[in-house]
Amino acid sequence: MHHNDMTDWADKAPAWVRHERIYDAAFAPFTRAVLDRAGFGPGLRVLDVGCGTGTLLQASVTAGAETVGVDLSSEMAGAARRRVPSATVLTADAQNVDLVAEAGGAFDRVVSRFGVMFFADPVAAFANIRSATAAGGRLTFVCWREGETETFWHGLRSLAARLDTPPTQPADGEPGPMGLAREERVRQVLSDAGWSRIAVELIEGVADYSVDGGDGVEERLSVALAGRVGQTVRRALEPELGEAGWQSALDEARAELRAHLRDGTVAFPSRAWLVTAVQGGGTTAPEEARAR
Ligand SMILES: C[S@@+](CC[C@H](N)C(=O)[O-])C[C@H]1O[C@@H](n2cnc3c(N)ncnc32)[C@H](O)[C@@H]1O
Repeated sequence: MHHNDMTDWADKAPAWVRHERIYDAAFAPFTRAVLDRAGFGPGLRVLDVGCGTGTLLQASVTAGAETVGVDLSSEMAGAARRRVPSATVLTADAQNVDLVAEAGGAFDRVVSRFGVMFFADPVAAFANIRSATAAGGRLTFVCWREGETETFWHGLRSLAARLDTPPTQPADGEPGPMGLAREERVRQVLSDAGWSRIAVELIEGVADYSVDGGDGVEERLSVALAGRVGQTVRRALEPELGEAGWQSALDEARAELRAHLRDGTVAFPSRAWLVTAVQGGGTTAPEEARAR
């Protein structure tokens, strides 16, 4: 079964919007990594690519930057506008949208939290983004790293085991969560798109699904079922098992999660790449020099 990105995100957006706080809890270490490295501040123009419901937009506005988000999904963009009314949020494909015409371009900081792995043509997309970046402007994003599995499977194994053909892990290098999973590919894509001083750093963060002091079991289950693997499992199993059977399958999934709590919450190490690059190279661009 193949969805294009548009259908895929239209499918997933309602759950992302509903579970915004869960994603923020689980992704907290990665949010911090992007924010520490990006360095937002007053007088800077910031672009968040695949901004979703606007976590990084909010941090940017709080830091006093002039803030623009772009997201393919109108539902995500709408949620981001509600959360961060002073940001400008475009509903568009970042691969093709004319960011200079639509948003004034000349961004000093371009950031993304897991929003840049879905492009049909990543080189075209990163070149398009670069063309709207000021000389010396800095790109900082996180994307999933090869070998990452818990993010996609934790809490879904007992459900998937009930299927004759269990769903497959998202494939490395194809548009999707693992689209930039291999380091050489990240470097190749960014250098082909004209970016300089590319750095790819491994970060491991503990994704903790606890929100408001709970154990995170329901939170993790909701998010797992909202992802591509979870949606696939549910579409296959729910009609087959019927309502009561599906509910008891979910209870089994909850038990699987409870059996693996760390310090009382659903938490597991996740691995991502923290990627940085600069538009125009050179270490002497005034904007870049100021940031040091
Ligand atoms: C994994 S979500 C991350 C959302 C948000 N950055 C966060 O961390 O909560 C990926 C986001 O990228 C968006 N997206 C996917 N392909 C895109 C494209 N070609 N242009 C713009 N946004 C895109 C999706 O709509 C979705 O909101």
